[in-house]
Amino acid sequence: MSEHPVPEPGSTDRARLDKLDERFRRTPAEERPPSLPEGRSVTKGRSAPGDLRLIQLSRHFDDFVAVDAIDLVVPSGSFFALLGPSGCGKTTTLRMIAGLEEPTSGQILLGETDITNTRPYQRRVNTVFQSYALFPHLSVLDNVGFGLRQRRVADWKRKAMDALELVKLADRAHQRPRQLSGGMQQRVALARAVVNEPDVLLLDEPLGALDLKLRREMQIELKRIQQEVGLTFIHVTHDQEEAMTMADEVAVMQAGRIEQLGTPGELYDRPATAYVANFLGQSNLLPLELSSGAGDGLVTATAHGFPVWVDATQLPAGAASVQLGIRPEKLRLLGPGSEAVANRLSGWVTDASFTGVATTYLVAMPWGQELTVTQPNDGSARAERGEEVTLGWDPHQAFVLAEAG
Ligand SMILES: Nc1ncnc2c1ncn2[C@@H]1O[C@H](COP(=O)(O)OP(=O)(O)OP(=O)(O)O)[C@@H](O)[C@H]1O
Ligand SMILES: [Mg+2]
Repeated sequence: MSEHPVPEPGSTDRARLDKLDERFRRTPAEERPPSLPEGRSVTKGRSAPGDLRLIQLSRHFDDFVAVDAIDLVVPSGSFFALLGPSGCGKTTTLRMIAGLEEPTSGQILLGETDITNTRPYQRRVNTVFQSYALFPHLSVLDNVGFGLRQRRVADWKRKAMDALELVKLADRAHQRPRQLSGGMQQRVALARAVVNEPDVLLLDEPLGALDLKLRREMQIELKRIQQEVGLTFIHVTHDQEEAMTMADEVAVMQAGRIEQLGTPGELYDRPATAYVANFLGQSNLLPLELSSGAGDGLVTATAHGFPVWVDATQLPAGAASVQLGIRPEKLRLLGPGSEAVANRLSGWVTDASFTGVATTYLVAMPWGQELTVTQPNDGSARAERGEEVTLGWDPHQAFVLAEAG
């Protein structure tokens, strides 16, 4: 489970959370939503709802398997991302968690409670969609407070204002949604969901309609808000950078299944399959024939007949042929003054593109494959197209895929 810093007593964040909590406790019991336990709080460290668990969860549409026996644990209070291409089953998975889609088989647990068959409104789950669906004729404040008013929550106005403060829109409370930018409207939609104090907040491509710059700003905002309220966020996206920037853990989905689960760093540095390696960034993949011989945690192998050293700890037991993956920024052009590296291969530069912070080279290898090399603009010598170059890499910075190429 990931740890988030709990605001110190006396800090403004802490004070705000305590205020929200205090308000909530003062709300008469009969005015609270039916499933709300006594004294529940959105603040961290108190009455945590427990982890969300999907057990062998499937959804079929006639013969088509949209979600295929998924097993997943989303730790309470974490920022979790479901990442995958269009049609891989992300929205269907979220809809089952929200209770909007009935699973064909499997179970959904929130803490110790089985919620597989409970009605959507009985689940402490809220969803923020790509289309924010704000009421155009209501003010921002009335939009955020709408659900609270429906449930006749006393003090709805102050709770809604607190939520607007959280998304930094308190000064826009009396405007109409159309007077706000797309990013602000998205934040209103978020405030409207957070104000209900759900155990789990589902976000289905909530930033999809925003332009790139606003999208990047909102990614940072969303992460801040999640850390501040400490709720479990499940964020669906097909943008790998978005998932990596925000999430504590990412589940990479393909065709209704979870291909790999891990932290952004684990998925990037140690992808388990070629699909994950290529979905999260770029990779150079070489077929490896393994042979005997070991030393210093490394074993020898050959790639297209050329000897290379491989990190022994990464090798799957019993495999004779695997693939070696090297990220473009882990490959270096070696010059006369370069430090010694275990692995070297020579080739010819077929393309060099300078982007300011770095130069990306395509280097043709003797067996015909072009490797991509990204060299930072750090003052080291640059190569020209047609030049013969030597590429080097540290065996520990490469990864091994158990599947043959
Ligand atoms: N009600 C339905 N009836 C039939 N097929 C459906 C239904 N809902 C979803 N599907 C199919 O299930 C698959 C997964 O759909 P889903 O909406 O979960 O994908 P997604 O990962 O959210 O994609 P996107 O990134 O495009 O939103 C798709 O092939 C879709 O056509
Ligand atoms: Mg979708």
